[in-house]
Amino acid sequence: MRGKLSIAIVAALTATACGQVNAVDVAQVAARQESAPVVVSVGNPDPDARRALIRDGDGLTNCAKVKCVALTFDDGPMPDTARLLRILDKYQAKATFFVVGAMVKEHPDLVRDEVAAGHEIANHSWDHSDLARMSESGVRSQLQRTNDIVQQTAGVTPTLLRPPYGSTDAQVSAVAKSMGMPQIMWAVDPLDWKDRDAGTVSRRVLSETRRGDVVLMHDIHPSTVTAVPAILEGLAGRGFHFVTVTELFHGAKFQPGRQFTERRAAQKAA
Ligand code: NI
Repeated sequence: MRGKLSIAIVAALTATACGQVNAVDVAQVAARQESAPVVVSVGNPDPDARRALIRDGDGLTNCAKVKCVALTFDDGPMPDTARLLRILDKYQAKATFFVVGAMVKEHPDLVRDEVAAGHEIANHSWDHSDLARMSESGVRSQLQRTNDIVQQTAGVTPTLLRPPYGSTDAQVSAVAKSMGMPQIMWAVDPLDWKDRDAGTVSRRVLSETRRGDVVLMHDIHPSTVTAVPAILEGLAGRGFHFVTVTELFHGAKFQPGRQFTERRAAQKAA
């Protein structure tokens, strides 16, 4: 019963999302949002003009000037990650994947695909252990093994840590600091692991997301992946740019070992 219901919901949402995927419509919606600081969107017909508006000298989106959000996806990669990558591509949206080392070993091609598409790969431990309950050497091993396998697999080294369960303490923070890694928590949590319903997940993200936020989701749940088109559509319509976490904090005060949930506080401290 539950299974059938889920399939019906997924089918309905897919139909709605496909009907709405129209770049021109998104641009028109964005243009009507007078409160948006800069009228640009995923649907701007002139990509060069858009880049000139939002890119700073480093080629990064300037989140001090435009409205940014960092969508983050934890615990993967899993087979459904491939579907998520196609959705993100369609909207030219960048995201950050907090991968688990053991899953990278399982699905190396998906991590390579994430990197090839311009997304950021970050560290979510080797096996999703609660780092605050481990020895100092245990924590270090969890982080180093994960950085190593991402480097060997996809040629990039993660620079950000999200401790599983958001569970951290002075020791975890000290190890992260010694490895040069800020700890990325979140400002928006739609509880997508608990409520496996795409409509619920997208509604929560759309109602709670503010400029500069980090949004926590999990690409291991098909319902979450199904929620993403509505999230991208809704936030793009409000003028949001979808950036990686590193891009979100670019130009703000962003120190290894410290915890971050959104850009606003880090910007004030810069
Ligand atoms: Ni996790």
